[in-house]
Amino acid sequence: MPQKVRKAVIPAAGLGTRFLPVTSAVPKPLLPVIDRPLIFYAVAEAAAAGIHEIAMVLSPGLEAVADYFSPNGPMEEALKKRGDAERLAMLHKIHSLAEVTVLEQTEPKGLGDAVLMARAFVGDETFAVILPDDLIWSDTPAIAQLAQVAEEHGGSVVAAKRVPSEAIPNLGIIDADPLGEGVHRVQGLVEKPPFEEAPSDLAIVGRYVLTSGVFDRIKHGAAGALGEIQLTDAIAAAIGQEPLHAREFEGDHIDAGTPAGLFAANIYEARRRDDMAEVIAELGLLPD
Ligand code: G1P
Repeated sequence: MPQKVRKAVIPAAGLGTRFLPVTSAVPKPLLPVIDRPLIFYAVAEAAAAGIHEIAMVLSPGLEAVADYFSPNGPMEEALKKRGDAERLAMLHKIHSLAEVTVLEQTEPKGLGDAVLMARAFVGDETFAVILPDDLIWSDTPAIAQLAQVAEEHGGSVVAAKRVPSEAIPNLGIIDADPLGEGVHRVQGLVEKPPFEEAPSDLAIVGRYVLTSGVFDRIKHGAAGALGEIQLTDAIAAAIGQEPLHAREFEGDHIDAGTPAGLFAANIYEARRRDDMAEVIAELGLLPD
């Protein structure tokens, strides 16, 4: 009987050079979608799925991301003095969502290596991985949709989405047989293939439910695409040994890992928020 997913790993290392100049001083995971940093959305999605134990993997120099989840005494005092209960609740919400453990990836060796840093934290449980660049708005949290498939079929599950051909060389691509209702049995995974070699247009989006066997496969795997230790390769190494499924999730996804993507995420979020309705109308943008 597959276990319930209780723990999540959020890899948030990386220098964020695509966002220069802002990332010269501000870590990418703290870049905002309106007034919430990217990392908040990842933690909130886990919490909404009932996952409250979270390990965040950071590179040295990104301590401000860890600070975001630590109590802010002076701000708390100031809000109390002013009697600003609404903002005090916002501040408390950051800390009440989850218990966050901060781990360090000392060298930028790839996503697989970042996840391996969480091995002791995870132990031998099936766990979630949430990439904070990938924002997903959905009724049922995307990671919960994957956990449901893992509960039903056992093994590991990756989130999937059909993508245009120009996106294929930047993503993990899935070779799979459809089982119906958005679930596919995975036959192969290939990280960042040239378009001509891609087995399909079904790409991995940054949500995973993985068995703990992935850690040994990361450890013993060779470097892959871009010379990095790829999570995709370690997941693919389990094919034939344990079940692996892809879930075409229900929801709207935006890759906020580029300036244009982050801008799109801001517009998307603004169209949903009542407090942005006026400016959305002024700009001639339609509400959601
Ligand atoms: C990572 C994964 C890739 C996946 C993508 C989704 O790539 O390696 O398989 O498709 O996330 O965002 P990265 O964005 O780190 O290059």
